[in-house]
Order: sequence, then structure tokens, then C-alpha cells
Amino acid sequence: MTQLVFPEHANALGKAFGGQVMAWTDLCGGICSMRHSGGATVTAAIDELTFDHPINIGDTVVIEARVNATFRTSMEVEVLVWGESPTTGQRWRCVEARLTFVAIDAQGNRRSVPPLRPENDDDVRRMNEAGDRRAERLARRKR
Ligand SMILES: CC(C)(COP(=O)(O)OP(=O)(O)OC[C@H]1O[C@@H](n2cnc3c(N)ncnc32)[C@H](O)[C@@H]1OP(=O)(O)O)[C@@H](O)C(=O)NCCC(=O)NCCS
Repeated sequence: MTQLVFPEHANALGKAFGGQVMAWTDLCGGICSMRHSGGATVTAAIDELTFDHPINIGDTVVIEARVNATFRTSMEVEVLVWGESPTTGQRWRCVEARLTFVAIDAQGNRRSVPPLRPENDDDVRRMNEAGDRRAERLARRKR
């Protein structure tokens, strides 16, 4: 997704408002999970999210999402948010976040998601690491 930061997206300091960046993060991750699973999804969890660098009014925001791993009805999606200067094209990383989405059908019941087909070592590494993070999330949920 690509977005231009307008004044209505900004805080009192003229930087993109954190809640707005979170909404874009959730939206882009949600579209990614819907594309993969072929239907509606809901956000089940957002892992720790940090804002590394600000984005100013007038800058471009580039949001990239990818499915790291699929489970039974849920998926881990990684979202990267970049600021981009419209004059120089220079990019800087603003946010890295991981979200869990659950696929639901028209009745709101959970539905299974198609498995990922890893194509290289990096894909396999991402799947394995996502599996570890899922175990931690579910353990936290139980506590
Ligand atoms: C997310 C939700 C569907 C989970 O429903 P539930 O009845 O708790 O279902 P389950 O415990 O069977 O979990 C379903 C899946 O979600 C995963 N999940 C649920 N909560 C999770 C969490 N906090 N972190 C990671 N995964 C989670 C489960 O591991 C399971 O995955 P799997 O099928 O791949 O093994 C339900 O809590 C919900 O509807 N929450 C509100 C969602 C919402 O309104 N989001 C914001 C607007 S989109």
C-alpha cells in the first residue's frame, strides 16, 4: 500500500500520528491475509510494535505485508512501514510489526487457511520462527 501523509493524518508535531500508522499496518496486513486465505479475516493479535523513525506531513508512506506462516485457521503476517521522501526517493524504516489474523466465513465461523508453499531457505526460516512466536503467544494467552 502507498499513502501520502496529509495534515489529517498527523499529530501536533506535524508527524504521522501513531494510531494512524497502526491503522494502516492493520489494514495492509488484513488485505494480505485475505488475499492469501481467499476471504474475510479478523485481527486476533498484534505483537509488540515500535516506531523507529517518524514520517512527516508530505512524505510518502509505503506499507508492505507478507504471510510468514499459516496454521489451522490463523496466519502470522509481517508488516513493514517505510517513510519515503517524494523529492529524493530515500526510504527509512518506521515500523516492523507482526500480526495474527484468523480466517472467518460468512457466518463468522473460523475456516481453515491454505498452507504456504515455501520457495527458498528464507521462507522456511520465516515459517519456523513464526511457529516459535505462535507458541509463545498461545502460552501467554493461557496465563
Ligand atoms: C480472534 C478470534 C476469532 C479467536 O476466536 P477463539 O474463539 O478464541 O478461537 P480459538 O481459540 O479457536 O482460536 C482460533 C485461532 O486463532 C488463534 N488465536 C486466537 N487468539 C490468538 C492470539 N492472541 N494470538 C495468536 N493466535 C491466536 C488460535 O491459535 C487459533 O489458530 P489456529 O486455528 O491456526 O490454531 C476471536 O477472539 C475474535 O473474534 N476476536 C475479535 C477479533 C476482532 O474483532 N478483531 C478486530 C477487528 S477485525
